[in-house]
Amino acid sequence: MPKHIVLDTDPGIDDALAILLALASPEIVLDGISAIHGNASTAQVTTNALSILELAKASHVPVYKGCEIPLVQPSLLSPETHGNTGLGYANLSAPLNQARAQHGCDYLIEQIMSHPKEITLVAIGPLTNVALAIRKEPRIVENVKEVFIMGGAIRHQGNTTPLAEYNTYVDPHAAHMVFHSGMPMTLTPLDVTYQCIFLKEDLDRLLKIDSPITKFIADSTRFYMEFHDEYQKIDGCVINDPMTLALTFMPEICDYEDLYVDVDISTGVGLGNTFADFYNYEKKAPNMKVALGVRPRMFMELFLERMEKLANSLS
Ligand code: RIB
Ligand code: CA
Repeated sequence: MPKHIVLDTDPGIDDALAILLALASPEIVLDGISAIHGNASTAQVTTNALSILELAKASHVPVYKGCEIPLVQPSLLSPETHGNTGLGYANLSAPLNQARAQHGCDYLIEQIMSHPKEITLVAIGPLTNVALAIRKEPRIVENVKEVFIMGGAIRHQGNTTPLAEYNTYVDPHAAHMVFHSGMPMTLTPLDVTYQCIFLKEDLDRLLKIDSPITKFIADSTRFYMEFHDEYQKIDGCVINDPMTLALTFMPEICDYEDLYVDVDISTGVGLGNTFADFYNYEKKAPNMKVALGVRPRMFMELFLERMEKLANSLS
């Protein structure tokens, strides 16, 4: 029985790869996408989501535009990481379809409440949409089947400040609301995603297939690899979001700990920092499962095989 996924996303290069992985995986059905500010503006990421779906001949998947700015913080986009369009050097056709009229937050609420305990929410951008959906309809907390979140850095250094990962830094107040909501969450932090580097040789393997899919992956990740080299001296690029998506149907890629995790919303240098109470100083029950161990090649083989299958089907 496939899992029903709703994807809250800020495409974004690695988000785009997560959308493609979702479409290439028979274990899941991508019911819909809510777009959120982050790697690019909400208008831009909404357009990107529509274009990526059309590229993969999946324009039946509805897209909903979500919040445009964080709850409290000023907007922080990441053109240096994902390019001005959010998709690096890729140049997709303008989408023929439009986003649906319903707001992304309302879409999340409607999907979860009309299919109690059936929807797997995958949040791979700043958590503004998810936080506001909880405030507007608190019952989604007990009606969502499960939530997978890409975000945070537990023992790992930040990728946006020395302490904070991008998604939790951009909207730390939203992350705080979601982390303390009681939702059944699994967190995929930088601790595991930074062990899963998409390498040039991985791309070369995909480029053996002549397909619009492999051309898109090459054009988008070339920009992303240049960023990782220039800013973090990494050979390759960290594909955080497809890894988070993969855990919805292949959890054995990672090892997990049940932990109480919090996010710093003070106004100092720690803003957006996520930390786990490993010694249970606070005597609080765990609020999430945290992926802290990973089998990188298990994930990368899955990702490459699924991209090859998708590319061959659209070559
Ligand atoms: O820190 C990495 C995360 O921030 C990824 O989801 C990336 O797409 C950006 O949203
Ligand atoms: Ca993202």
